[in-house]
Amino acid sequence: MSSRLVVEVWILDDATAKSRVMEKLSTSSESWDCAASDTYISIIAPRLALFARDAMFLADPKDDDILLEVACGPGHLAIEAARAGVKKIIATDWSKAMLDGLKNTLKQESPKVSERVTPLHVDGQTLQGIDENSVDIAISLFGIFLFNDRTAACNSLMRVVKPGGKVIVSLWDSQKTEPSPTMFSVINTLVTYIKTNSNLANNTIPSTITDKDKMLIDLEKAGFVNIRSVPVSHSFCFADSDTLLKYFMGRNPVFDRLFLTLDEQQLEGCRRALIDEVYGKSSARDKECVMNGVAYMIIAEKPDSS
Ligand SMILES: C[S@@+](CC[C@H](N)C(=O)[O-])C[C@H]1O[C@@H](n2cnc3c(N)ncnc32)[C@H](O)[C@@H]1O
Repeated sequence: MSSRLVVEVWILDDATAKSRVMEKLSTSSESWDCAASDTYISIIAPRLALFARDAMFLADPKDDDILLEVACGPGHLAIEAARAGVKKIIATDWSKAMLDGLKNTLKQESPKVSERVTPLHVDGQTLQGIDENSVDIAISLFGIFLFNDRTAACNSLMRVVKPGGKVIVSLWDSQKTEPSPTMFSVINTLVTYIKTNSNLANNTIPSTITDKDKMLIDLEKAGFVNIRSVPVSHSFCFADSDTLLKYFMGRNPVFDRLFLTLDEQQLEGCRRALIDEVYGKSSARDKECVMNGVAYMIIAEKPDSS
């Protein structure tokens, strides 16, 4: 496993007069282990799971197909596929904690469902150990776009998918503004707050997680054909503002870069900005709220060799 933990020292401005060691977690499996045991498995993944069914409808697998999930996290898609009748699913991730989440869920499923899923600890950039031309359908929900080397990831998909096989990858859409609030209107609110109220002018979310055109090119360069994208969206409901805050401000390699260097006053400002964006004019700020996750599913095929 080629994961690494990068440690950076950030010196905050004179006014705060303190330095803080932070982990820059965006590129390591340890960062995802940390996210898994914080709020990812309990709060984020169940909401992203809403997209698993979209992917299954688009993939339309036959029961005897071999389905590979890349960067499965706690594996909602793998479980959805197993419940739908797909008999062999390989669910891969480089985070052991995420795979432990999947294994725990599988224990609660019937043997008929759980026996269909094989959790596999592997770097999705290499997919080492998965045979060439062995997979009918490969799906990565909100995974590959985060990889350090997406070219390697797409080439590995090309290697393992059978000729005529299908790949589906999802990524976020940052453009759509309605119905509001969306995940990205919230993120933009946070980024604007941070840029205005801290010296972290370049603090932002990496554009790779919304760069659909780059993903299309990466897949095309790897040799995939018939590449197209389908817009999909779901409402994420939250029972209270505390859960909403955890969704965005719990440990998560994507969001950590926004928050880890802020002091308590700045963090409190972020919390207020976030709640203002999602609750709007509603006075019931400790009650239920909803935000929209707007995304794309990109579908591509490996040319049939015949
Ligand atoms: C945003 S989560 C998505 C998880 C899951 N697909 C879902 O929809 O909930 C990103 C996942 O990518 C995994 N990941 C990131 N880089 C990876 C890599 N190089 N190889 C394998 N998994 C990776 C993380 O461990 C994490 O589980």
